[in-house]
Amino acid sequence: MEKLTIRDVDIKDKKVIMRVDFNVPIKDGKITDDTRLIGALPTIKYAIEQESIVILLSHLGRPKGEPKPEFSLKPVAERLSELLGKEVKFVPYLYGPEVDKAVNDAKPGDIILLENTRFDKGETKNDPELAKKWADLADLHVNDAFGTAHRAHASNVGIAQYIPSVAGFLMEKEIKFLSKAALNPEKPYVVVLGGAKVSDKIGVITNLLEKADKILIGGAMMFTFLKALGKNIGSSLVEEDKLDLAKDLIKRSEEKGVEIVLPVDAICAQKIELGVEKRIYNLDEGVPEGWMGLDIGPESVKLFKEKLSGAKTIAWNGPMGVFEIDDFSTGTKEIALAIAEETTKGAISVVGGGDSAAAVTKFGIKDKFSHVSTGGGASLEFLEGKELPGISSITNKKKIRRLILAGNWKMNKTPTEAIQFSSVLLNGFVGVKEYDIIVAPPFVSIPGVYEILRDSNIKIAAQNMYYEDSGAFTGEISWKMLKEIGVEYVILGHSERRHIFGETDDLINKKVLKALEVGITPILCVGERLEEREEGLTFAVVETQIRKGVKGVEDIEKVIIAYEPVWAIGTGKVATPKQAQEVHRFIRELLSEMYSKESVEKVRILYGGSVKPHNFFSLIIQPDIDGGLVGGASLKESFLELGNIISRVV
Ligand code: 13P
Repeated sequence: MEKLTIRDVDIKDKKVIMRVDFNVPIKDGKITDDTRLIGALPTIKYAIEQESIVILLSHLGRPKGEPKPEFSLKPVAERLSELLGKEVKFVPYLYGPEVDKAVNDAKPGDIILLENTRFDKGETKNDPELAKKWADLADLHVNDAFGTAHRAHASNVGIAQYIPSVAGFLMEKEIKFLSKAALNPEKPYVVVLGGAKVSDKIGVITNLLEKADKILIGGAMMFTFLKALGKNIGSSLVEEDKLDLAKDLIKRSEEKGVEIVLPVDAICAQKIELGVEKRIYNLDEGVPEGWMGLDIGPESVKLFKEKLSGAKTIAWNGPMGVFEIDDFSTGTKEIALAIAEETTKGAISVVGGGDSAAAVTKFGIKDKFSHVSTGGGASLEFLEGKELPGISSITNKKKIRRLILAGNWKMNKTPTEAIQFSSVLLNGFVGVKEYDIIVAPPFVSIPGVYEILRDSNIKIAAQNMYYEDSGAFTGEISWKMLKEIGVEYVILGHSERRHIFGETDDLINKKVLKALEVGITPILCVGERLEEREEGLTFAVVETQIRKGVKGVEDIEKVIIAYEPVWAIGTGKVATPKQAQEVHRFIRELLSEMYSKESVEKVRILYGGSVKPHNFFSLIIQPDIDGGLVGGASLKESFLELGNIISRVV
């Protein structure tokens, strides 16, 4: 699923809260390796160039939910200032008055770094209250911390419940390349795995058996496989309890036609130390007792190179030997160079895992690969085919629920004008399939409009409907009449009906139930008045309208809800995307108390109130906003422009 990136949204003059990975090694208050800071610079620089206010969030180490001075991000702020040549204001808190003041005082282009997110217990528990505190500081969340993508924490995942989360450049690159390796690799696809333990790589191997053509296994984990095949491995590291598993993986690889390639020789020693005696043992003949394999041997390097040759995609995770010690680093270096060589010939190469990344850095060849992942655990889980919560939470370019563009014409346009405008819409929306288009003309115009639109993708809504089938109800219209003239949707409980014509929640509820009974989709409108918002009653008002409005409804997914704050209707005062999202979220949570999560996830909640082309995009990218119920802007060609805006996210 393609994700929105920082490039897709307008961040000028916006407050952006950016989750970065500043988990850098610090010794005596000094940063010993600033690679991660450098990695985050492009996104930060872009955001300040776009004149947004940047609030940075990161964890550092494992302070276990309490402030500990040795885990403070203060040294990071200093180093980052140097790297950017610009002040980074460090606020030694995570929320509260100091943070609010710093954010309020900040000007476009300013950068603020808050304290270590893990100083609060809520971070690793993905506490919604903590996430909301951070969301309240900003308009948008930028997620550039791939290293924590396999964790569902408040600062990367929780926060995305409240404001849209978009990928930063680093995250975008990680997703792009890891997807190439893990999801749709170009073939031949060769995977090189190393590291100490088979147990760390079971998930990866299992997943790769479905995708890879060859899996080359080095590192200490090779000995578990070799022993499983009955070879003598001397005193090499082995996971005795994983021998059956290794056998099973070999068997499954044969069934799947995936070639598992094991080393044929190993560089062995009696101690893991620099300068000790080394011997090369052929692995068919075996390693004598007292000797252990610490690197793959020259024949294995040759074999692996042959197997890598001609690959179109290469994923590498885990060193071939104890590369930290120069005596046992040759295998890792040779394989790294071989992968780099294939890259120059056009292969996509992705290096993942902390150790392999450290190895290519040590050898000074980091830039010779298509991509070196910044995430150890995260890249491994990606290769395992797992869904990473820190990626899932980033707003999709395409929305999960089908979006709706609905135009409420209210008491506008005569039947003739309605017909003329319908032709404009018919041509303007021709071929659109990706979202639902609905227009709600006045009753008397519906037949004419239906004549024009009946075979099109534009559906018709009525602006009201009585709940009785027929009878002495002067001035009312029944479902039977509406159905006969092509009506498929009905707007119910619009604030103008509530406040000008005195409709009550009970009456609206009867209409909702009737509409559902007869197969017309109700669009139930809710929303607070200005005085109610000012008195802090927004949620209470909306809750009552929803609870009473859907009373007795069984299939909630058949109802469309429209949140239309009365103070925003026809006034030009649009709710901010954040204000709207907050209420939409609230509505979805409220419905979740009454219905299954599964059905509530399907309910479409529209926003209405001064929707215009200039404000629509930032509204529809909100996680819980599923389209617009538009008044004024639906009467003109601007309605077509709104459609074009929807096309960008569906
Ligand atoms: P405006 O878009 O004109 O504010 O009207 C919103 C509305 O009430 C749609 O039902």
